[in-house]
Amino acid sequence: MTDTLDDIGVSTTGERKAVVTAPGVAPEKDWVIVTRGLTRQYDMGGEIVRALRGVDLAIRRNEYVAIMGPSGSGKSTLMNLIGCLDTPNDGEYWLNGMLVSEMSDDALAHVRNKEIGFVFQTFNLLPRASALQNVELPLVYAGVSSAERKKRASEALDRVQLGERMGHRPNELSGGQRQRVAIARALVNRPSILLADEPTGNLDSQTSEEIMRVFEELAREGQTVVMVTHEPDIAAHARRVIVLRDGVISSDERREQFAAKVGIEVPQL
Ligand SMILES: Nc1ncnc2c1ncn2[C@@H]1O[C@H](COP(=O)(O)OP(=O)(O)O)[C@@H](O)[C@H]1O
Ligand SMILES: [Mg+2]
Repeated sequence: MTDTLDDIGVSTTGERKAVVTAPGVAPEKDWVIVTRGLTRQYDMGGEIVRALRGVDLAIRRNEYVAIMGPSGSGKSTLMNLIGCLDTPNDGEYWLNGMLVSEMSDDALAHVRNKEIGFVFQTFNLLPRASALQNVELPLVYAGVSSAERKKRASEALDRVQLGERMGHRPNELSGGQRQRVAIARALVNRPSILLADEPTGNLDSQTSEEIMRVFEELAREGQTVVMVTHEPDIAAHARRVIVLRDGVISSDERREQFAAKVGIEVPQL
């Protein structure tokens, strides 16, 4: 197989290697995420748990990437670092050309709000608020005017095909619709990365496909997507699959190679 781009785009191994092996050098703007030797450990009363032991990762704008790995391999730790919820003990993290691994907590919070849209397994919607109000919330915090909030929130709901259900509360929506509201909320600030931690973890397989169709559409529109999952069938929807083991990357390949290796079909949506 040739190592070229498909219609969404996967960076090549050589391109990634060049960017991760240049310590201290600001990556070109096209690289939305670059980590070099990223290390995170926890001190559990004298015993050191090495959750990440030097992760070198490069993700380009418009890539659609899944991060897989067994329980305890460091997926959530990596996700928290990428999402600017946590800082590393060692190594570099460059997000859109900014060295966020060196930032203060205040600066980090600012970058997080601007650059990252989070989707969680448990949706995390406000039960008494309508879909529209839930999606507006990040804009309330950002100080956007009411009229502009409504406009942008309804556009985000349209993008996930929920324009017709804006006035419904979460308990009036199906699981798939709730997760789509959460995706709209994650997109409303126009983040450079959509970061999803087990986005289908609470959904049946048919509803999981519904959510994967939404991600597929967003990726096609040019949204950079990074999704953490422990399910190979879900991971194979992304264009590139990274496997973590014991706090390091053990493989990083196109989904066709990954699917062949684990013995599944490449999903067609
Ligand atoms: N806050 C924490 N305190 C102590 N140890 C932690 C903490 N978070 C994660 N770990 C440990 O780090 C390792 C990686 O965990 P995690 O990133 O949650 O893996 P995964 O998401 O792949 O299951 C595990 O050994 C876990 O017990
Ligand atoms: Mg986890």
